[in-house]
Amino acid sequence: MTDFTDLYTPTEEHRAFRAAVREVCEAKVAPNAAEADETGEFPKASYEALRAADFHAPHIPEEYDGVGADALATVIVIEEVARACAASSLIPAVNKLGTLPIILAGSAELRQKYLPPVASGDAMFSYCLSEPEAGSDAVSMTTRAVADGDGYLLNGVKRWITNAGLSDFYTVFAVTDPGARSKGISAFVVEKADDGVSFGAPEKKLGIKGSPTREVYFDNVRIPADRMIGAPGTGFGTAMRTLDHTRVTIAAQAVGIAQGALDYALGYVQERKQFGKAIAEFQGLQFMLADMGMKLEAARQLTYAAAAKSQRGDADLTYFGAAAKCFASDVAMEITTDAVQLLGGYGYTRDYPVERMMRDAKITQIYEGTNQVQRIVMARQLLAGLPTN
Ligand code: CAA
Repeated sequence: MTDFTDLYTPTEEHRAFRAAVREVCEAKVAPNAAEADETGEFPKASYEALRAADFHAPHIPEEYDGVGADALATVIVIEEVARACAASSLIPAVNKLGTLPIILAGSAELRQKYLPPVASGDAMFSYCLSEPEAGSDAVSMTTRAVADGDGYLLNGVKRWITNAGLSDFYTVFAVTDPGARSKGISAFVVEKADDGVSFGAPEKKLGIKGSPTREVYFDNVRIPADRMIGAPGTGFGTAMRTLDHTRVTIAAQAVGIAQGALDYALGYVQERKQFGKAIAEFQGLQFMLADMGMKLEAARQLTYAAAAKSQRGDADLTYFGAAAKCFASDVAMEITTDAVQLLGGYGYTRDYPVERMMRDAKITQIYEGTNQVQRIVMARQLLAGLPTN
């Protein structure tokens, strides 16, 4: 018999944790969201508020001075921050994305050196996989690390790097054995302070404007050999295993954005009067609200199920991570678009937050693998006989 106590229902502790995150986000993150979107500036006040409450990198284990939040608690943090400000939710999400390769495959020395500064909030950690000509086709990267004395010389360009320039540390995937395809890629920790590291201009984006996205350039950057994460040639597997876990965090971000939009729309339709009554009284709009709530809850449950699998390291995490990210982000796009519709002309203006949420939702269908890639991943798993249930 299945032990139902060990599935994915949030515990009392998780519920209390959510309430604590929500309080901080409503008081100190939400008020900066519109300005960060308007100016495109990183919301430092939101970062400091998350840092003061230890919500900026909650996944870092206690042995590295972190909070040691499990995968579900981390998802709850990201969901709640995204409900207030999607751009700010990339702080805990990308700190997890950047550091997870070290946690999964790095040496004890790398973990000891690089995790505590992230736990304290002194440093952030970004993840460098994509390149101008290697997006969905990540194996085709050309960034090259050539063995040189007791280390490597790194050359190349990474694109779409979240929090580039702000982060002190970067997990960088590079080709060490050309011709070996995925088996010729290795992972390294690169520091912003390393000679030869520089950054492109911030991308001008549709949404998540308060989270900088820039290119990262490596020009003859010398990397000591002990900064390789795992063995030579294991980098691509580490990149994919990392994404299996962190696609769940993007699902959480999508759920949070959608919840923010639904909450706002629910308030609006009860205030707004047309034809002599609150528009919430019209059945056509009630049906829209019901669909939004129903889809959102389905997305949340799938996300939490995937988070439980991430925590346990279940064999079908690859499938569930892709499914949660794909489903939740598609749902977030639908819900935020419907929220704009429910506010009518007002929803289309920047005087109300739902148009921002609609623009922010779009990226969740694209990054950490487009939803077309997620469907490829799921189909391959199904054809291989997984998930087994
Ligand atoms: N876990 C462990 N190993 C894995 C794996 C996984 N989940 N998925 C693949 N691998 C291994 C495979 O087993 C294979 O090894 P073998 O040759 O030994 O069998 C190797 O990796 C190559 O795998 P594939 O043959 O499946 O590779 P592919 O070229 O067909 O690509 C893909 C697969 C799923 C399309 C993959 O390239 C992919 O996920 N692309 C999308 C990349 C992506 O998500 N980018 C997002 C960047 S991060 C981001 O957006 C950052 C941000 O700032 C928010």
